[in-house]
Amino acid sequence: MSLVKTAVFPVAGLGTRFLPATKSVAKEMLSIVDKPLIQYGAEEAIEAGINKLVFIVGRTKNSIIDHFDKAYELETELEIRGKHGLLQIVKDVIPDGIACVFIRQSEALGLGHAVLCAEAAVGHEPFAVILPDDLIRNHGDGCVKQMVGVFDRYHASIIGTQTVAIEHSDKYGMVAGPRLDERIARVEEIVEKPAPADAPSDQAIVGRYVLTPAIFDLLRTTEHGAGGEIQLTDGIAALRQHEQVLSYSFEGRRYDCGSKVGYLRATVDLALEHDEVAEDFRDYLKQLKL
Ligand code: G1P
Repeated sequence: MSLVKTAVFPVAGLGTRFLPATKSVAKEMLSIVDKPLIQYGAEEAIEAGINKLVFIVGRTKNSIIDHFDKAYELETELEIRGKHGLLQIVKDVIPDGIACVFIRQSEALGLGHAVLCAEAAVGHEPFAVILPDDLIRNHGDGCVKQMVGVFDRYHASIIGTQTVAIEHSDKYGMVAGPRLDERIARVEEIVEKPAPADAPSDQAIVGRYVLTPAIFDLLRTTEHGAGGEIQLTDGIAALRQHEQVLSYSFEGRRYDCGSKVGYLRATVDLALEHDEVAEDFRDYLKQLKL
């Protein structure tokens, strides 16, 4: 039984890169084929044995709350029409035994602040943080399940990482430190969105973390950092002064669904794996003669 039972989803951001789509729809509700991004994140958490999902939402994110609520009218209607397959899909959005908690982040003060908003719901336990914009797919265990396994072994906070071209360092938190094995390293340097010349390595933070609750006290005193926001990266830099922090180069493929091209790549790849549409869609792509 894993020690990590809670996942936090900071989903209060405005999603301006997808306007006008995100004028009234939460960016995390944009679908890849037929499933909203936030649900891929929830499924990744549930697969890892997590049973409490904490969503940090903003004022315009009520569609996320609705998505994870029970849809009585829809379920009754599908039942009456005998659409049992669809009924199951609707019921599976939140399987039995999974609790959802919604917390309003009333001011957009940054990712570190959003995580701090989850403190009361998380309690004094380790927890995962999932940024659903980063869609991560793997044919074996999902990224969070892999990281929770590492946590259970080391009892230390873990940051999901991936190698990026150094010229993109200013889009990511960047880490560096000695390797403990093929995938795990000790974090000795960590900095939010450095210029390429200042990047400590080519290892970028992706939107997956497993953190000890010691992070909360540190986030409370974290100063505004890059972009004037309270950065989770800065909180983790402070955490590293007190306890070991590890990085984990996950197995799988990440799609940056916060960008249009990343979103389109995810759409194409997942459509090609989708039982219902894969065949037709492959035929369509073949005849495009690009
Ligand atoms: C956030 C984090 C950053 C991380 C990134 C991963 O940045 O602050 O450290 O590398 O997520 O997606 P954002 O993309 O929200 O600006």
